[in-house]
Amino acid sequence: MPEEQGGTDQRIPRHVSVVMDGNGRWAKQRHLPRVEGHRRGLESVRTAVRGCGEAGVEALTLFAFSSENWRRPASEVRALMGLFRWVLEREVEALRENGIRLRVIGDRQGLGDNLIPLIERAEATTAEGTRMTLNIAANYGGRWDIAQATQQLAREAAEGSLDPADIGEEAIRSRLALADLPEPDLFIRTGGEQRISNFLVWQLAYTELYFTPTLWPDFDEEALQAAFESFSKRQRRFGRTGEQANALTGH
Ligand code: FPP
Repeated sequence: MPEEQGGTDQRIPRHVSVVMDGNGRWAKQRHLPRVEGHRRGLESVRTAVRGCGEAGVEALTLFAFSSENWRRPASEVRALMGLFRWVLEREVEALRENGIRLRVIGDRQGLGDNLIPLIERAEATTAEGTRMTLNIAANYGGRWDIAQATQQLAREAAEGSLDPADIGEEAIRSRLALADLPEPDLFIRTGGEQRISNFLVWQLAYTELYFTPTLWPDFDEEALQAAFESFSKRQRRFGRTGEQANALTGH
């Protein structure tokens, strides 16, 4: 392993995806409003971005707001959008300085006219970053992603630029959000639930899943390292036998 990937023989995932759950419970335990949990959650986002960047992770994808989160109380939705806005307005310069390319995935039309120009500006400002890509999933759902890819395919077929006979896995994959990045090697969900919750449902087909009871605001550098360590010990077989997988990785 190269020095920048930790200096040990620990295997570092190229792409990490995270469901940041437990903000509400963290706040409730402290008799604070749920919004306070999200604010503290943003601190954990900073820690995770720094930790992944330093470890040599190429892409980090965070589930900030799902297509289903609109069902939450209006005040909480407003607060979450406010935090997102804060990141887009105030954190972008630091991301750019650290070589981090920011991208937003999801149905951005649904995020409203105020946020869209901020998203576009943040993506343009950080577009040259080569150290790590930070994907923020906002108004995102894994099934939405597959549906939008399908719509693209249908449009291309209707226009005559695509033969329906050529629609296979690769045609779908290449039209999904994050198609230009390696699929996530590691999925982390904090907060104790053991579900994918309509996150990157296509892209997670072969991903190692890591669930921890730690609430997201408590997910610190040490907790991130524990997730990396767990990943490092797993054997990824991609449908092969254990012996075949070992032969491929030289173990
Ligand atoms: C789930 O916890 C968390 C969310 C729905 C929002 C995550 C948002 C942040 C961490 C802050 C903003 C981050 C960015 C990148 C803009 P929950 O509220 O479901 O917790 P609970 O299960 O304990 O109620």
